[in-house]
Amino acid sequence: MPATDSAPVIRFENVVKRFGDNTVLDNLNFEVRKGERVTLIGPSGSGKTTILRLVMTLEELTDGYIYIDGEPFTYEERGGKRVARKPKDVAKVATKIGMVFQQFNLFPNMTVMENIVEAPVHVLGKSKEEARQRAHELLELVGLSDKADAHPSRLSGGQQQRVAIARALAMDPEILLLDEVTSALDPELVGEVLSVLRNIAETTNITMLIVTHEMQFAQEVSHRVLMFDQGRIIEDAEPHVMFSNPREPRTKAFLQAVL
Ligand SMILES: Nc1ncnc2c1ncn2[C@@H]1O[C@H](COP(=O)(O)OP(=O)(O)OP(=O)(O)O)[C@@H](O)[C@H]1O
Ligand SMILES: [Mg+2]
Repeated sequence: MPATDSAPVIRFENVVKRFGDNTVLDNLNFEVRKGERVTLIGPSGSGKTTILRLVMTLEELTDGYIYIDGEPFTYEERGGKRVARKPKDVAKVATKIGMVFQQFNLFPNMTVMENIVEAPVHVLGKSKEEARQRAHELLELVGLSDKADAHPSRLSGGQQQRVAIARALAMDPEILLLDEVTSALDPELVGEVLSVLRNIAETTNITMLIVTHEMQFAQEVSHRVLMFDQGRIIEDAEPHVMFSNPREPRTKAFLQAVL
């Protein structure tokens, strides 16, 4: 468990997200500390993916602020006004963040190796040699050392998702966002992906913000679980409390339905 006084690495301050007149996140405040693994649970449409997409800058904030490592990310307060930060400054902070999606989103025309080294070379400016060396280490970590030259279409869903995990880690992110990374997989392939993630959780200090329907997995790897409903956190608890003795009736009903 990360020290309770360790610095927040992600902080949402009065975050509002609307799509048209649909308020999805309503003045949301929460933080995730360095090295902490936090799982978001809650009914479909409660705003879990939206939170991750905001952190990934795939969605625009309607109001409020997100801080990464204490630094204002897409917006900052200057002279009492809320102003957008320069794209260059946003991009710099964004390199600290990696995401793995439900649909693996690999580049189909590239080999596994090319998929993994693309961003480290073109975004971080690593040498090809250095990027390839790191890619080999990561392929070993995800159990795919023999697939470096394969194209994604030749891999199983579980293998493709493990490549996507290696590709995210190749950017050496401080923060890894995982959005239902096993939901598109056949049941027999779920275990291999979860075991890779368990291994990463055990062997690294990477901060993770996780959305998953795999409650057993969430219980094992999370330090904290946040229950969302209608864009608000209605319960924030350690996993053993959340899953065995939740406080809120709505959490109880949700867990009964999914477990
Ligand atoms: N691009 C978009 N345009 C309009 N509305 C959107 C968009 N993306 C999400 N929404 C709406 O925002 C709300 C929250 O969606 P979100 O995908 O964050 O939910 P979720 O908690 O991840 O749900 P699920 O468990 O089904 O994945 C929903 O009402 C959804 O319809
Ligand atoms: Mg979602």
